Amino acid sequence: MSKDYLKIIQQSQVPSHVAIIMDGNGRWAKKHGKDRIEGHKAGVESVRNAVKASIECGVKYLTLYAFSTENWNRPKEEVDALMELLVFAIETEVSELNKNNIKLTTIGDIKQLPEKCYQSLINSIELLKNNTQLTLILALNYSSKWEITHACKLIAQKVKDGFLEPENITPQIIEQHLNTANIPDPELIIRTSGEYRISNFLLWQAAYTEFYFTPIYWPEFTKEEFYKAIMDFQKRERRFGKTSEQIQSEHK
Ligand code: IPE
Ligand code: IPE
Ligand code: MG
Repeated sequence: MSKDYLKIIQQSQVPSHVAIIMDGNGRWAKKHGKDRIEGHKAGVESVRNAVKASIECGVKYLTLYAFSTENWNRPKEEVDALMELLVFAIETEVSELNKNNIKLTTIGDIKQLPEKCYQSLINSIELLKNNTQLTLILALNYSSKWEITHACKLIAQKVKDGFLEPENITPQIIEQHLNTANIPDPELIIRTSGEYRISNFLLWQAAYTEFYFTPIYWPEFTKEEFYKAIMDFQKRERRFGKTSEQIQSEHK
């Protein structure tokens, strides 16, 4: 089944960067009469599916929104369980990631995560740093407003120290100070669970991103769902402010 989808996907137009807002673990758990944390655990299998599908169709960067700065406001038991799950998932998956030539990186303020999470992330990032097939980017303790504010502080400091003139601040300079410096903007953002919002995710980077929304809950996310999103993306005409006629003549 997923092989059939793969055949239809046009290899030349696979987005190089796909980002996913993995939402609906809690509602999936409720639907099945389970605790919310069981939903998060079930979501780990969907992460594997998204990683495998990315490799199979040639995506080079996959960003997964795993924990937002706003998620600290959840009940303490849920936050603690999520942090434990994160450590467990990283430690059990790292050798498989290595086997599949996957590099790991993060965006967000990971220094504020519990020490154990932080250490296990740093160790895994180091172990996988020379891998080249896919860069897996985990958004952890991430929010776009935090990231942009952080970039502003770094830039302000450079101006204050005399390394930069205010009139020389360009969009490129701002990009170089975001956590995503050197990562191309995502061409496609997928959000599961039927919510139509961005929840403080990649606000700057998504200026021209295509969005794909699906009602399915994250633990139900399969490789087929990923391919469906790619196929939908390939039907879109990305105009970047131009007219449709201009775009079509550029493709001739
Ligand atoms: C997404 O699922 C996972 C995280 C935000 C960590 P949710 O936990 O938000 O699931 P719902 O939205 O309550 O169903
Ligand atoms: C967004 O999901 C954050 C992650 C997927 C980690 P939420 O479930 O926290 O989003 P809102 O608060 O409902 O918008
Ligand atoms: Mg949610």
